[in-house]
Amino acid sequence: MNREMVKQKGSKNKVSAPGKVILSGEHAVVYGYPALVAAVDRRLTVNDKLEVKSEIPMGCGMGSSAAYAVAISAMNLKHSGKALDKGKIYESAYEIEKQFHGNPSGADPAISTYGGWLWYRKEAEAVKLFSRISVARKLPDLLLFNTGKPEETTKEMVVNVVGKAYRESQDKVTASLRGIEGVCKAWLRFLTGEEKADAGELIRENEKYLEEIGAVSESTKSWVRKIEKAGGSAKISGAGGVKGASGIILLYYPHMDQFERWSEQLGIDVFKVKLGEGGVRNER
Ligand code: PMV
Repeated sequence: MNREMVKQKGSKNKVSAPGKVILSGEHAVVYGYPALVAAVDRRLTVNDKLEVKSEIPMGCGMGSSAAYAVAISAMNLKHSGKALDKGKIYESAYEIEKQFHGNPSGADPAISTYGGWLWYRKEAEAVKLFSRISVARKLPDLLLFNTGKPEETTKEMVVNVVGKAYRESQDKVTASLRGIEGVCKAWLRFLTGEEKADAGELIRENEKYLEEIGAVSESTKSWVRKIEKAGGSAKISGAGGVKGASGIILLYYPHMDQFERWSEQLGIDVFKVKLGEGGVRNER
């Protein structure tokens, strides 16, 4: 056994990729509207024996499957002796996502690959546009609450729930998707420092459209109403769910200094994440 082989055998070669939240644009992005997504400080790590460790809750809208696809794609590149080329990682992760989800927008593997904040738009299968956003203004602190793992997969939500609603009432669903686009653009102008915005109002409006297209379950709607009644606002982040839980919801409460007491009174177990974190990377 030569020295190089010994090094490989004992090597702790790892790559990690982040999860994400969708500030605005889930579902609409499948129909060619924009989405605003941020990488979070919860990561999935794969080593060279392809063992996986993850801090991202699975199947709850935080991009666990995309982080897996990105990390595996990066590790495969490394195995073939190539450098971590993000363009190649993204393309390979997108192909893997297609096998999981059928017709994904590609936003999840993009944010997990590139990190930070992305404005993402799929114009056509061959043209996926995204732009990194330099956040000029501090975003208000957001909290996450996990309503639980939805019974439906992302593919089922996209094809059988929202897709079905679209096929049956195209005009109505299109109006809601356009509403989401408006919210998404208002967030963009806010983040880039062009305009002020009322974060609570934007989140409430976005949630209303997501409810209109059928992405939110009755039990999650009652959580959201309870949160709104108590002075906060919330929206699902990701594909959502209709039969049981709807995965992660993103919460905003204007009096963050009191959020612990507030969430305790509401009986919700919230957690904070950092937004705009780094994309796929080597780990030692
Ligand atoms: O898989 P999730 O829960 O992160 O949802 C992805 C967002 C969707 O817009 C619903 C699907 C997509 O491909 O963009």
